[in-house]
Amino acid sequence: MCGIVGYVGTQTATEILLSGLEKLEYRGYDSAGVATIWEDEVNCVRAKGKLSNLRSKLEHLQSPAQIGIGHTRWATHGKPEEYNAHPHMDTAMRIAVAVNGIIENYSKLREELKQQGYQFRSDTDVEVIPHLIAQFLKEEIAFGQSNSDSVFLEAVRKAVNELQGAFAIAIISADYPDELIVVRQQAPIVIGFGQGEFFCASDTPAIISHTKAVLPLENGELARLTPLGVEVYNFAGQRLKKHPRLLSLNPMMVEKQGFKHFMLKEIYEQPGVVRACLEAYFNTDWHPGNSSRSPINIGLASEFYADIEQIHIVACGTSWHAALIGKYLLEQLAQIPTQVHYASEFRYAPSPLTPNTLTIGVTQSGETADTLAALAMEQERRQGREPKYQARLLGITNRPESSLGYMVSHMINTLAGIEIGVAATKTFIAQLMAFYALALDLAYSRQTLPLENLEDILKGLRQIPKEMEATLESQEKLTEQLAHEFAETQDFIFLGRGINFPIALEGALKLKEISYIHAEGYPAGEMKHGPIALLDAKVPVVAIAVPGSVYEKVISNAQEAKARDSRLIGVTPVKDGEAAEIFNDLVPVSFVDELLSPILTVVPLQLLAYHIAARRGLDVDQPRNLAKSVTVE
Ligand code: M6R
Repeated sequence: MCGIVGYVGTQTATEILLSGLEKLEYRGYDSAGVATIWEDEVNCVRAKGKLSNLRSKLEHLQSPAQIGIGHTRWATHGKPEEYNAHPHMDTAMRIAVAVNGIIENYSKLREELKQQGYQFRSDTDVEVIPHLIAQFLKEEIAFGQSNSDSVFLEAVRKAVNELQGAFAIAIISADYPDELIVVRQQAPIVIGFGQGEFFCASDTPAIISHTKAVLPLENGELARLTPLGVEVYNFAGQRLKKHPRLLSLNPMMVEKQGFKHFMLKEIYEQPGVVRACLEAYFNTDWHPGNSSRSPINIGLASEFYADIEQIHIVACGTSWHAALIGKYLLEQLAQIPTQVHYASEFRYAPSPLTPNTLTIGVTQSGETADTLAALAMEQERRQGREPKYQARLLGITNRPESSLGYMVSHMINTLAGIEIGVAATKTFIAQLMAFYALALDLAYSRQTLPLENLEDILKGLRQIPKEMEATLESQEKLTEQLAHEFAETQDFIFLGRGINFPIALEGALKLKEISYIHAEGYPAGEMKHGPIALLDAKVPVVAIAVPGSVYEKVISNAQEAKARDSRLIGVTPVKDGEAAEIFNDLVPVSFVDELLSPILTVVPLQLLAYHIAARRGLDVDQPRNLAKSVTVE
């Protein structure tokens, strides 16, 4: 949450900062600001609301500054008003600071600084930082031991040692006009290396059009960027040796490529994502007669799997829904008892320690604070225990270079490519693919599934991209028409059972987060225990009815809803018989095995949510109050 970008070099900074912020707007869009150094002063311009407001404000200011920082905010402490927008400055207006994160001990620091005469102009937690730096700078200049070249760096280092919390910071000062200082403690920040110019950003899309050579800072590190180069230090002040690496990201990946919204583009990329996962995770030449090795190739050695008695999965939001499908697969295919936890709950009420437990963190961004904290807690509480209690951590992420990547020793990279729309779509599909691969690999190594069944599942998975393309083609118009009818509806219910229950939850989440329509997902059989009281002619019900173990049950639960006058929308491969009779609207999906059906049934629900939100004229890619990666608790 919140995006930071910084630049020092030989080009005009403002446009580089603004175009970088455009690529980071998915992280927050409550307000934005830039600060540059020009004619011995910090020029700070901020605006409430979207980046376009800031752009308009900057239009008349032709600043030739060659150093600056920018910020796009998702409000935590303090309303989304201009006076709370970053960058924040010290009392003398010489230091500007842009922060992503939270300063937990801010109120004590704020009181101390106020007593010393520092003037606060915002309600934010992070405003303590420029004042603290100013205070250390004063001390450094008066009594400091450090060489005069390092005064600013040293003051920043001392200031960050006072801070508690999770943060990434970019700092400039009019008194040190060639230095951009960047800090990382539990929130992401990456440095980009150009020729005679250097960048920093919360995420690589912000700098990919300038450079592919990057260095992600690690926790407890700070760096000084000048036109002459980059120096990295730890918080104790020791210089570290670091080498940039090359990104494989292509600037085209972060463009809309003709689609009206990133979300629609990302929905249409899903067949390609499944293909990429199939290619990476599954050995094509495997068959039951040639079964001395696993058909799955996710880089997890059999020792990692040995003796697993239980699995805990921690995740949030859409990743939590993927984890619920993961639980179904791990229990039904690999016969391993599995629990799925909201990461934010698990942190404060962890399950009792059990031996030989595998803990999986699922997070597309790899930066979700709750998920990272739950994993860290799991690691910590198992440390020093006998071997069978020690932490075995696995991460499932779309961003292997993220904080999660540093934390876990084993990882499945979900290969969805960068996702910009705040509503997760293709990364959800990729997470499902990772769970199919993991569950099948475990089933193979524990011999819980006959090889012929394993082969059938693999064959079915290989058909998915084609079937998904067909589904997308047939549903585009249909879901658009439904959106036309339901754009003004106030409440929606989504029903599913078994492996499609999490899809009902995901359908409801997609609709509420981008269209602001109230929606709930339920296991279809639970309706009669209370929620059925909500139903009447104004509340449409979307039922996911896939032939298999619970088809007839879902159909009768749908009948119960129809008997209460609800309009019924069926997401089903069955076009005749009872389904044709009871559903008012049929949204056909291709017929695949029930076990694989969630990969297809989610697609019309994504499209329905998209078209409803687009028809309501809403900002599909940047829905209100949300941010793509939630790096605060
Ligand atoms: O990056 P993560 O997968 O950890 O993010 C978790 C949730 O914040 C995320 O899935 C959120 O619910 C999305 N807006 C869903 O579309």
